[in-house]
Amino acid sequence: MAILVTGGAGYIGSHTCVELLNSGYEIIVVDNFSNSKPEALKRVSELTKKSFISYEVDLLDHIALENVFRENHIEAVIHFAGLKAVGESVEIPLRYYHNNITGTVLLCELMQKYNVKNLVFSSSATVYGTPKYVPITEDFSLQTTNPYGRTKLMIEEILGDLHLSDNNWSIALLRYFNPIGAHESGRIGEDPNGIPNNLMPYITQVAIGKREHLNIFGNDYDTHDGTGVRDYIHVIDLAKGHLKALEKVMNRTGIDTFNLGTGIGYSVLDVVKSYEKVTSQKIPYKITQRRSGDIGKCYADTTKANKELGWKAIKNLEDMCQDSWRWQKNNPDGYTEEIKELVENHN
Ligand code: NAD
Ligand code: UFG
Repeated sequence: MAILVTGGAGYIGSHTCVELLNSGYEIIVVDNFSNSKPEALKRVSELTKKSFISYEVDLLDHIALENVFRENHIEAVIHFAGLKAVGESVEIPLRYYHNNITGTVLLCELMQKYNVKNLVFSSSATVYGTPKYVPITEDFSLQTTNPYGRTKLMIEEILGDLHLSDNNWSIALLRYFNPIGAHESGRIGEDPNGIPNNLMPYITQVAIGKREHLNIFGNDYDTHDGTGVRDYIHVIDLAKGHLKALEKVMNRTGIDTFNLGTGIGYSVLDVVKSYEKVTSQKIPYKITQRRSGDIGKCYADTTKANKELGWKAIKNLEDMCQDSWRWQKNNPDGYTEEIKELVENHN
């Protein structure tokens, strides 16, 4: 019996694969590598000293995906695969709707056909839109401001309808706050394409000398220092949250939503200071205007996940900065270099 991990080569997926393998699960990975590299999976295997099957398959390729279900005995699915760049989703919304929503519908159709009804889904705090206050509980009203966010919200609704139609389904909707950090080995981490959109990969690229300075998007928010406040969570804590959610879906039927964050809000300047402290490096920055669509404060109330999953994030901001830096320092060009070697070796 295996756990199917869609998008397992990606940032959060690869860290979750490590935790799953270390906890004795058998896993099968499906990824089309549209935003990741096979090298990440090689390193997952190297870190855990365990092998697993991976398929280069697009969720939209129904026939290829059905082969995965036919060839394996799957017990549950952790569904990470999706496109995730907010700005890009505004430019190419149809691609986002097709990839994220159609991909999920096709996956669920096969799960139903093969009687695999345990699902952990990657949702996002983006479904809360502009929250009226913080911390945010799961029962806050939902509203989204961009196509990416709408795909998450629509999928949550689709999965709700699916459970309503057949209560043998067991589903956990995990709303992540801001995952950062990397595996403490420095072997796997976040490998964004092009100019990073998110704060931590941008800071690490300034630290390594790839970018001159950080642009801080506004210092006039209603926060302790005027810069935006977020709930940064270490990717390993987040990965562990998936194992707890998996246990839950395998032991009951129903559908539940959980916030996965630390419950603590840090500002952009807090992150910069913490990064400077742990790396002994200066991060030059300039204050620029607010980024369109940004909100002032966003952090989670994690009581429900603490109580019902028996899960709590334990790593602090310094751990997150330290591990992000180790990954960046050891892999200045992400997974690229070793990929070249791999291709050469195969030729
Ligand atoms: P990622 O891009 O690193 O990983 C997603 C993986 O899915 C990639 O390996 C990509 O190649 C694969 N993929 C995309 N479309 C696919 C398809 N049609 N078929 C097969 N594979 C496909 O992203 P991540 O940061 O690891 O995020 C994982 C999930 O968590 C995503 O669904 C994302 O929307 C969600 N999420 C991420 C964040 C964040 O800040 N990183 C926050 C909230 C939610
Ligand atoms: N920021 C900067 N400069 C940068 C990048 C970010 O000042 O170069 C600031 C932002 O204005 C914000 C904070 O850093 O105040 C965090 O920004 P990120 O882009 O890292 O993260 P967001 O909170 O904007 O969004 C992220 C994901 C979304 C997801 C959301 C909630 O990108 O997809 O977290 O999970 F929906």
